[in-house]
Amino acid sequence: MSDTYISEKIVYIGVDDRDIDLFESQYVVPEGVSYNSYLILDDKVAVMDTVDARKLDLWFENLKHALDGRTPDYLVVSHMEPDHGAGVKRLVEAYPDMKVVGNAKTFAMIGQFFDLDLAERAVTVKEGDALSLGAHTLNFYMAPMVHWPEVMVTYESSEKVLFSADGFGKFGALDAEEDWACEARRYYFNIVGKYGPQVQALLKKAAALEIAAICPLHGPILKENLEYYIEKYNIWSSYEPENQGILVAYASIHGHTREAALKLAKMLEEAGAEKVAVTDLTRDDMAEAVEDAFRYDRMVLAACTYDGGLFPPMEDFLHHLRAKSYQKRTIGLMENGSWAPQAAKQMRALAEAMKDVKVVEPVVSIKSALKEVNIPQMEALVKALV
Ligand code: FEO
Repeated sequence: MSDTYISEKIVYIGVDDRDIDLFESQYVVPEGVSYNSYLILDDKVAVMDTVDARKLDLWFENLKHALDGRTPDYLVVSHMEPDHGAGVKRLVEAYPDMKVVGNAKTFAMIGQFFDLDLAERAVTVKEGDALSLGAHTLNFYMAPMVHWPEVMVTYESSEKVLFSADGFGKFGALDAEEDWACEARRYYFNIVGKYGPQVQALLKKAAALEIAAICPLHGPILKENLEYYIEKYNIWSSYEPENQGILVAYASIHGHTREAALKLAKMLEEAGAEKVAVTDLTRDDMAEAVEDAFRYDRMVLAACTYDGGLFPPMEDFLHHLRAKSYQKRTIGLMENGSWAPQAAKQMRALAEAMKDVKVVEPVVSIKSALKEVNIPQMEALVKALV
């Protein structure tokens, strides 16, 4: 086993999980996910978070190897969601002299997950508190709702390292060779997307710190071009579109709505749209559809009528968007129905219930299959969008 050093005194002791079927029981992770954890070795030794129960044994091996015979003085708990907090009880029981560092909400949550008496071992911190380990000093900043209420981040001031909790996290094991932004964006909008104002508040706090490295709880340690990552987070958390473009999201039963949606996508491209992305809501990854909806400034929703209402995969997509505070976007509508088209009415109601979402006219309404008679309506919708 070889230790992975962030610096001479900060060691990575996290683990990759490539066996998991669905992260948080809903997100496909083709390249797995990492549960990050760190060890700071100074006069005092601090463990920065534990990992998911699925990989606790491996994590303990990493920890013991990096400790090299020493014992931890502190466990800092940034976030009690079980992908990070599952090992708290086991670590507390393994090291009876170790103190646990968290805020008041952290300890309430530890009590909810575990039967543990931490009365003599809790170090309760609040905004701006500092804890000296020797040459290293940990400074604590509260980051409520990034992504749970108890979340806090830790800034180690001697090496200028920000331990950012779920912030700046990414799907994918650490050994995955893939673009950061693609899987960090999918992670962000699906996991943290609802909490844009709280992420903005954290970014304001971070702006006052000189940061040399960001150590998140998932994904790679960021050491270079930090402005790039911070700028992405600023765009995402302010709900501004990252790129000019149009997502065509369709939900088709027998393929006719699909054919019309693909035709519309081609017409949008031919009309000069900067970028046209297409997603099949019945088959493609829902989390990626959500990501693309936020990424671009415009979207077309194409769905058929079903049981006198809206085809459920489209309804599900719109509920996902609302749950993640989708806003500030322009939407076009295309419906299909064989006897009484209803889809557009329902899509409009769901879309217009979201903040600053504008539905453009006309609505394209197809009866069963795309026909020449539909083309002028589609051309008019293209004109309204491009
Ligand atoms: Fe990675 Fe919100 O836990």
